[in-house]
Amino acid sequence: MNTKSNFSSRIGFVLATAGSAVGLGNLWRFPYLAAKYGGGTFLFIYLILVVTFGFSMMITEIAIGRKTGLSVIGAFQKLDKRFSFLGYLAAVVPMIIFPYYCVIGGWVIKYGVLFSSGQIAHAATDGAFNTFIEGTAEPLGYFFLFIAVTALIVVLGVEKGIEKFSKILMPLLVLLTIGIAIYGLTVDGAMAGVKYYLTPDFSKISMNAICAALSQLFYSMSIAMGILVTYGSYMSKEDDLAKSAVQVEFFDTGIAFLAALIVIPAVFAFSGGDPATLGAGPSLMFIALPKVFANMQFGSVIGTAFFILVFFAALTSSISLLETIVSIFMEKLHLSRKKACLIIFIVSLALGIPSALGYGALGSIKLLGMQFLDFFDFISNSVIMPIVAFFTCILVGHIIKPEAIRDEVNISGKFKRYAMYRVMMKYIGPVMLLVILVSSILNTFGIISL
Ligand code: PFF
Repeated sequence: MNTKSNFSSRIGFVLATAGSAVGLGNLWRFPYLAAKYGGGTFLFIYLILVVTFGFSMMITEIAIGRKTGLSVIGAFQKLDKRFSFLGYLAAVVPMIIFPYYCVIGGWVIKYGVLFSSGQIAHAATDGAFNTFIEGTAEPLGYFFLFIAVTALIVVLGVEKGIEKFSKILMPLLVLLTIGIAIYGLTVDGAMAGVKYYLTPDFSKISMNAICAALSQLFYSMSIAMGILVTYGSYMSKEDDLAKSAVQVEFFDTGIAFLAALIVIPAVFAFSGGDPATLGAGPSLMFIALPKVFANMQFGSVIGTAFFILVFFAALTSSISLLETIVSIFMEKLHLSRKKACLIIFIVSLALGIPSALGYGALGSIKLLGMQFLDFFDFISNSVIMPIVAFFTCILVGHIIKPEAIRDEVNISGKFKRYAMYRVMMKYIGPVMLLVILVSSILNTFGIISL
């Protein structure tokens, strides 16, 4: 079983993993968190986490997958029976994320439609986005469309075709993002945004910013949800695991960095860095970007192209989310692919509706003071994923021992930062996760104020 490899080359692994990792987390979630939590301050915390904890978790998960040759539930079971629960817990995460991921995917389609039908001036007006998400039929309709496209691709098992496609589209997305960022920087007032984004203010480092950066790390790099274990199980023993992990990480972080480099300066150029706009949260990308495009020559064409590419980045990620859930259902409940897809489609549809309507018809309902979408986002990224990561650190740091991961990595290539990795998994990781988890939960229940 261990010798099986579904990736024909190391580059195939890197591209497929990057296709899953790069998505709305980079383009939509990272910029709004960076804007909200102090720009450079957030970027600084995030980058430190990426090269230390993010790197360690990514290597761990891929190595566990390759070592056991199993997907997440089987893998943890095989390493230590007492940790079987960890696989199940990790598997719950994609099930929570998938429905609301498709709601945001729907927002992207809506903006693609607005731009391609020449309604750019309307898209750029203040309040256009809020009017849209406060509606009923439109947010629901676009959500259905996005989830239906994803489900259809997974039912038909044609994601390989989409992946091939995305190998061309992803580099295009990078080029277009760089181009738009360069243009955006020339707009009057944008430089103040660049300064805000690139200069950390150490006095602004807060527990809230650290919690947000950690949740973003999990979400963006697809860690602590079993996905990388599954991808690792397809990786060949000859491939350089450490090098692949670093490349995926670099790609993922690079795209997030560029996306915020467009969005944050735009907020400064068009609203003078107004704190209310900076803290807009999930809507920020949809408020800031149309204003950039509306002021650009050929803005309609470039804006349309941009939203189409974001759509594909989101689609490859939503396919990998659904595929993960489907494979768990097929394996554990012995269902056919079609049946598994249908059940998950219906359940996710039901779970996504509150998120789609959370800003409008269901706006008065709050869970722990949050709208549905923010609530699902919080539960998965700030509660379950830190728990999964905590127990992964305990399992690797103290039970199977970091040496086991090092030996797996060293089968092919060299584990260069092993000393840091060992300390991270044994001591720093668990302590950091515990502190963050407890404080973010206490904060949410109003017991402490961060
Ligand atoms: N990492 C993806 C993003 O940043 O958009 C989200 C994601 C995709 C998470 C696929 C999990 C997954 F399986």
